[in-house]
Amino acid sequence: MKSLLELLSQEMGKAFEAAGYDASLGRVSVSNRPDLCEYQCNGAMAGAKQYHKAPIQIAGEVLEKVKESGDAVFSSAEAVNPGFLNLKVSPAYLAAYLKEMEAADRFGMNLAEKPSKVIIDFGGANVAKPLHVGHMRSAVIGEAIKRMLRYAGNTVIGDAHLGDWGLQIGLVIEGLRDRKPDLPYFDPDYTGEYPAEAPFTIEEFAVIYPESSARSKEDPDFKARAMEATKRLQQGDRGFRALWKQIMAVSVPDLKKNYDALNVEFDLWKGESDADDRIPSMVQYMKDAGYAHISEGALVVDVKEETDTKEIPPCMILKSDGASLYNTTDLATIQNRMEEDHPDQIIYVVDKRQSLYFEQVFRCAYKTKLVPPETKLTLLGFGTMNGPDGKPFKTREGGVMPLQRLIADTKEEMYHKILEGRPVSEEEAREIADLVAVAALKYGDLSNQASKDYVFDIDRFTSFEGDTGPYILYTIVRIKSILAKYEQQGGTPDRSKLSPAQGESEKNLQMMLSGFASMMEGAVAELAPHKVCGYVYDLANAFNKFYHETQILTESDERKAVLIALLMLTRDVLETAIGVLGFSAPERM
Ligand code: ARG
Repeated sequence: MKSLLELLSQEMGKAFEAAGYDASLGRVSVSNRPDLCEYQCNGAMAGAKQYHKAPIQIAGEVLEKVKESGDAVFSSAEAVNPGFLNLKVSPAYLAAYLKEMEAADRFGMNLAEKPSKVIIDFGGANVAKPLHVGHMRSAVIGEAIKRMLRYAGNTVIGDAHLGDWGLQIGLVIEGLRDRKPDLPYFDPDYTGEYPAEAPFTIEEFAVIYPESSARSKEDPDFKARAMEATKRLQQGDRGFRALWKQIMAVSVPDLKKNYDALNVEFDLWKGESDADDRIPSMVQYMKDAGYAHISEGALVVDVKEETDTKEIPPCMILKSDGASLYNTTDLATIQNRMEEDHPDQIIYVVDKRQSLYFEQVFRCAYKTKLVPPETKLTLLGFGTMNGPDGKPFKTREGGVMPLQRLIADTKEEMYHKILEGRPVSEEEAREIADLVAVAALKYGDLSNQASKDYVFDIDRFTSFEGDTGPYILYTIVRIKSILAKYEQQGGTPDRSKLSPAQGESEKNLQMMLSGFASMMEGAVAELAPHKVCGYVYDLANAFNKFYHETQILTESDERKAVLIALLMLTRDVLETAIGVLGFSAPERM
């Protein structure tokens, strides 16, 4: 469906043409002086040079033609110095547009001609290690991107890409050996079945990794043991593989719990380990085809290009001791994905500090033809979540903030705020707080451009005022409660009653609504959830202004029905938008 701006531009184009000018000059945009007009057209300024005329003269001639065609589209049009055309849309035209938009799928959003198949690599949790706030960014942004692309009609596969194959596993293995040396996993001569239960409780498990990790920094022997254990695991040691399965069995459900709490879902729970068995053949292929060569003992693929302005080091495939690396796993995973799913695009939602790394991996994947040129490899690199001091967010004690604790703290804060001014039971307050806290966290994150760092401010994020998740939910709940009251009074909400706006704030709300589809098209094209947030905030503001100026439920029955129809559309657009962002609103709060 055409956007309102396109339709208005088309009308202006006709007027330019009728006055003897190029129709493309008729492009209309939203006014940057809303005090003067709703829309504007700067085509006369743009055409002045081409037609050797003063812009105001062109604008005057075009205006004549606009006037001749009546007020069906523009209720007012003016030519002002030095040559702007200031426009207002006719309320009837706007209302008709909204009706069409309401009846259309996805409020008239245009889908890509050919839907894409996209894999999103996000989350990136590391097995055995607790999730930290950096993982929250990947999860929250990735989930929003996944939903946005799906909303736009694409086929999207979300893959958690677990870090399940690295040194942290070796650290857990050796930490466990020191605690329980008698376990059969550590006995090289053991040939029996391994126990079905995990050799640790979840509580024990939670302390083994941090302890071992700290110890490895001071105790080089211990670190060497952990590295050796990692290598043996990767080489297929029977006992270590069995232990690894137990580590996975304890760790993965715990990770899932955390992601559930954030409304984040993956279609695939693959990990680095899943690519492992194809590494030898991939390496062989890279050698045979002449892509990889030995440099200082290591096997590398050169990826620098002549046009580089900064140094791009070669992509290392094998270390000099023959061990594979993070790179190797990522390349083998790409090969795997290409063979299994043939995606048109793979999007990685990863900390932007890994940008150079991904540049190397992507170049290597294209150069070695693991990926054809038409397949897009995209890094959506995100910035750091900082504390109020502008440094990476820490706990009060100065440690890395575990995600679980951040979520719990936010829920607690929200719970108190909900209880404060509202007559709700503690139980209901908890339920509402859980939902609102997720919105507070997610909106707080998503409303910033992903690539930028931002400051996590729990007071601000959980506030019911300002550009926050709770404010958006509060607005939606306000609409729902008016609709509920209307029904209690015996009214039946009816969308078809939508009518031309009477007041200014009502019209402004309608204009805001009309922009949903083109906003969403743009946000999807740019993979920019913050644009959806920006729209949601503007729409919520437009609604609240209208609400404060209008006594909706005391109007005449006829007028009430009209306003109720407008509220329904506003609620639907807001709920659709936050659904795409990955959170939802309660019925009351
Ligand atoms: N596990 C990694 C980390 O915690 C992130 C993984 C990102 N994805 C990838 N395909 N490399 O930093």
